[in-house]
Amino acid sequence: MIHDSLINTTASLISPDIYNCQVSSDKPLKLGIMASGNGSNFEVIAQAIAEGKINAQIQVLIYNNPEAKAAARAEKWGVEAVLLNHRDCKNREKFDSKIVQTLQQYDVEFVIMAGWMRLVTQVLIDAFPNRIINIHPSLLPSFKGVQAVEQAIAAKVKITGCSVHLVSLEVDSGEILIQSAVPVLANDTSETLHARIQVQEHRILPMAISLLSQRK
Ligand code: GRF
Repeated sequence: MIHDSLINTTASLISPDIYNCQVSSDKPLKLGIMASGNGSNFEVIAQAIAEGKINAQIQVLIYNNPEAKAAARAEKWGVEAVLLNHRDCKNREKFDSKIVQTLQQYDVEFVIMAGWMRLVTQVLIDAFPNRIINIHPSLLPSFKGVQAVEQAIAAKVKITGCSVHLVSLEVDSGEILIQSAVPVLANDTSETLHARIQVQEHRILPMAISLLSQRK
């Protein structure tokens, strides 16, 4: 099938640097994960750690929606989950201060935004300079912000994908660490395309965390 080979070919179009990535640190990276929803990316990180693929430990999950499924996943993996509801905070800075306080309380070194659906402020960025990464469902710099998958379909691009990048103040604009390409098929809906993008997200996010250890 043409489509199958296209999918396999484009899915392997990731930065060649990644093949050389090693876990260089003896001590496990202490991760804080932030998630707003389903938490499938949280789960693959926990799985990769359990399988010894990345030398890290998850100190805490922070979630901001009481109904986020990520919280149940954390419980399953024995990870402490802290609900910080942005609706209880006067402004974004106050909310980010609470996040920083919690991350510091749990002795976090690196922060992973795995489906975190809130804009961040300088308060969070300054507390963890070059130590916050985000996963985004497009090949940045295309289709920043919300509904990236829908944006790709509307633009009628033939290839989209996902990116892991350092978080900066401007949304989805920090240094790109790793990307994976995914073809857009003629009959794709946002659901079918997002499902294939997520398969790639689950590959590259653990790889990106390995790269972080080289930045320690
Ligand atoms: C992912 O597609 C990620 O790129 C985006 O939000 C989604 C989170 O998925 N930022 P999950 O909650 O990890 O399943």
